Amino acid sequence: MTTVQVELENRSYPIYIDRGAISQLPTVLKELGASGSVAICTDSNVGNLHGDAILSAVREAGVQPVMCMTPAGEQSKRFANVESFIGRFLKAGLDRSSIVVAFGGGVVGDMAAFSAAIYMRGIRFVQVPTTVVAQVDSSVGGKTGVNHALAKNIIGSFHQPSAVVVDLDFLSSLPPRELRAGLAEVIKHGIIADEALFAYMESNADKILAGDVEAMRYPVQRSCEIKAAVVAEDEREHGVRANLNYGHTFGHGVEAASKYTKFLHGEAIALGMRSAAALSRDLGLVDAAFEQRHNACLTQYELPESWPEMPIDAVIEAMRRDKKARAGKMKFVVADAMGHVVHRTDIEDSQVRSALEAIRGS
Ligand SMILES: NC(=O)c1ccc[n+]([C@@H]2O[C@H](COP(=O)([O-])OP(=O)(O)OC[C@H]3O[C@@H](n4cnc5c(N)ncnc54)[C@H](O)[C@@H]3O)[C@@H](O)[C@H]2O)c1
Ligand SMILES: [Zn+2]
Repeated sequence: MTTVQVELENRSYPIYIDRGAISQLPTVLKELGASGSVAICTDSNVGNLHGDAILSAVREAGVQPVMCMTPAGEQSKRFANVESFIGRFLKAGLDRSSIVVAFGGGVVGDMAAFSAAIYMRGIRFVQVPTTVVAQVDSSVGGKTGVNHALAKNIIGSFHQPSAVVVDLDFLSSLPPRELRAGLAEVIKHGIIADEALFAYMESNADKILAGDVEAMRYPVQRSCEIKAAVVAEDEREHGVRANLNYGHTFGHGVEAASKYTKFLHGEAIALGMRSAAALSRDLGLVDAAFEQRHNACLTQYELPESWPEMPIDAVIEAMRRDKKARAGKMKFVVADAMGHVVHRTDIEDSQVRSALEAIRGS
């Protein structure tokens, strides 16, 4: 078992990573002093596939599990379903000392964490992530929330988990497209912070894409270490945490302009990273060989190379509306070496446009 610690003073917590790590959950719950009922928030897919594993782990802690299930999919990440979770908490008699377990991908993780953040002004929760996105990204860092009909992730709060239990074996049942989309975030971690991680992803694509869970151990662990370090330094995203948004300014524009239906998040981010690399080269921060290497790795993981029908104006408009654009100035994270990024707010409209043209690929 590997443990990565997220250092946040009195809100510090461990991330346990291993195959079969779910066996650690009873100990985690006991150490947190769980008693009475523990709520398990999950979605229909994860509940059907792995419900028994989580139920028995919670029972082994000597507490009563209360299942709170939501339909699978991003459309479930809305306030009405948070209210449903909270209704279940109330009926089960959860109090200020109770614990919620978020069991699933980022959708369930964000919703369950947000429910825990606002129930009785905040109760503790444990993340048990089951997708690549959740294991390498959303379960760590304490960003919680839901979507509004008018904007994604616009309702939320910071609420750090008490522990994260990453069981790599859950990845075996993940649909291949979900696996690949999640790997875009791992590749991103390599680009922003660690050339060795990027090189590992280049060298191990065959194993990883074939579903070799053991091959995921290093990238999941390194991703958690990188995210933990960034969050420890800048929990509320005043500075360095924005590094994690590499590819996201463009990617969020792509997601919104495609009405969140054409691409999975990681796929849109892969396109966004290609634009970020094109912009980095346009700015003279990296050379053509960097961009070629950067993009070849994304292609190895069968992530989208282009969006030929892309409505560039709609993408730019969505980028401007994105909550990360402050006072009309768009902020870009660009690479100046493999494993290192910088922030720029001085980008001309024409440069944004040509970075997007690089992924229209017509
Ligand atoms: N809080 C953060 O910092 C943060 C960071 C990144 C992403 N997010 C959020 O995360 C969400 C995306 O997360 P996601 O990609 O995990 O999506 P998801 O939670 O919708 O999961 C993807 C699909 O895989 C299924 N699934 C989950 N685990 C499975 C397993 N082990 N086997 C088989 N199927 C499984 C789910 O039911 C779902 O259908 C978005 O809402 C995004 O905004 C949050
Ligand atoms: Zn992302």
